[in-house]
Amino acid sequence: MGRRALRRIDPALDLSQHLIKLEELPEPLAVDALFGRHARLEIEVGSGKGLFLSAAAAGDPQSDFIGIEILAKYARFIAARLAIQELSNARILHGDGQLFFQRWLADCSVHAVHVYFPDPWWKSRHKKRRVMNESFLINVQRVLVPGGTLHFWTDVEEYFQTALGLIAAHTRLTGPHPVEEKPADHDLDYRTHFERRIRLNHEPVYRAQFTKEHESP
Ligand SMILES: C[S@@+](CC[C@H](N)C(=O)[O-])C[C@H]1O[C@@H](n2cnc3c(N)ncnc32)[C@H](O)[C@@H]1O
Repeated sequence: MGRRALRRIDPALDLSQHLIKLEELPEPLAVDALFGRHARLEIEVGSGKGLFLSAAAAGDPQSDFIGIEILAKYARFIAARLAIQELSNARILHGDGQLFFQRWLADCSVHAVHVYFPDPWWKSRHKKRRVMNESFLINVQRVLVPGGTLHFWTDVEEYFQTALGLIAAHTRLTGPHPVEEKPADHDLDYRTHFERRIRLNHEPVYRAQFTKEHESP
């Protein structure tokens, strides 16, 4: 994803508390055992360099956060970030977010799902690889607790509109509820690295939030 090489990770840093290979995680996910407590759970798919995951976990110690990232070098980079910040309420999984939702996550177990700037897969024949697809969205509907939220941001207007159509057609989530752009107070005061890059280039960001209503299965 990124244009710049990732910073080197100190080989002495212990990543074992934060980095987990999806295939080594028992199914179904035992969230309370993973974190050693019972708390709200939020999940981010495609965590990239981990800015959202680390900032969200640091800002809300009462909740637990799981990111899933398909590229091993990014998953390791994120784990290093979480380990350096000693964030006991965050884990990064190395694996495929689609599979994680399909096989590991129980019904009504997640308070928020975050998908920020997913790969657009521009070519028509590659669009089936997009994360925001029918089967993923059906799983989002299933795993969210009543009152839970889906957060989707992208810089690709066509992807945004297509995903909104899929959400309307295949889920009972309400929205899109608009999300306002927040002025950045410092150089890393962005939701993710991609948001930072896009806003510094003065390009538009399309943001939407959806809610699973209380009577929704
Ligand atoms: C364009 S980057 C955006 C990264 C980050 N969300 C941000 O906004 O800075 C998309 C990320 O999603 C990851 N990704 C793509 N498909 C995935 C999947 N099926 N499961 C988990 N991660 C995935 C990519 O490796 C990449 O790190």
